[in-house]
Amino acid sequence: KISYYNGEFKRDDEISVDYNDRAFYFGDGVYEVVRVYDNEFFTLEEHMDRLVRSASEIEINGLEQEKLIEIITQLKERNSIENGSIYIQVSRGIDPRNHAYPAGAEPVVLAYMNALSRPSLQMENGVGIITANDYRWLKCHVKSLNLLANVMEKERAVRAGAHETVLHRDGVVTEGSSTNVFIVSEGVLRTHPANHLILNGITRQEVLKIAQEREIEYQEKPFTIDELKAADEVFITSTTQEVTPVSNVDGERIADGSKGKITQVIQEGFNQKIH
Ligand code: PDD
Repeated sequence: KISYYNGEFKRDDEISVDYNDRAFYFGDGVYEVVRVYDNEFFTLEEHMDRLVRSASEIEINGLEQEKLIEIITQLKERNSIENGSIYIQVSRGIDPRNHAYPAGAEPVVLAYMNALSRPSLQMENGVGIITANDYRWLKCHVKSLNLLANVMEKERAVRAGAHETVLHRDGVVTEGSSTNVFIVSEGVLRTHPANHLILNGITRQEVLKIAQEREIEYQEKPFTIDELKAADEVFITSTTQEVTPVSNVDGERIADGSKGKITQVIQEGFNQKIH
């Protein structure tokens, strides 16, 4: 497998990463995960826009979107993986550990590609989720490398035999540890508005486009844990999870536990966008 680090494409086993990369010391950087379906990028521009925006939010400026696209296009061409995901991260640079930004350090890009198939089984059967307090920082719209709270809360789900942890602030649902969350009640699709409390998922945005195209009423309006549990349908979205129905929350079943009608329509719309 061929990967990319700090200006060079190399075989995986030939890459060595600089221990003074600020990604290690501070999680001082941003990232994206992009899907490749049948050799084609899915929503590449949207992901690269968000990467550049996330970077500028943490004052990593001057990234050239075209260069980033060139790196991952080459990565895709050098690895013969038809269906996969590309991880790309940009750190502030390489310099001995010091909290303040290093003067004159250049951003460092790391990128690799993995094979990944679609999450077909869970898209049919749904998954269980648990809920937990959202104690993250207040810049959740930045796709930061700092994922400690997300990692710890995901692990809590795994230990509970569930798939994802959905976070809330004072009972108001924000998002999952690595997903956005939607409910359907009384025929209306609802998700948290895109502000500093959530990552505005590319999949989330695709779902809202599908809702518009298919004339499903939707609101970008917060909902509570109680509304989540009482919803007719619940699903979570991300680049890797796509549109995954939720069958139970904290062990309580959502409706009859099977995939909902609107969830099905959104999945069909998503399939059409991929192909
Ligand atoms: N996670 N919210 C959070 C906190 C996320 O980390 C992610 C994505 C999403 C969904 O965003 P998108 O639809 O653009 O993938 C929402 C990626 C996939 C990850 O960390 O692996």
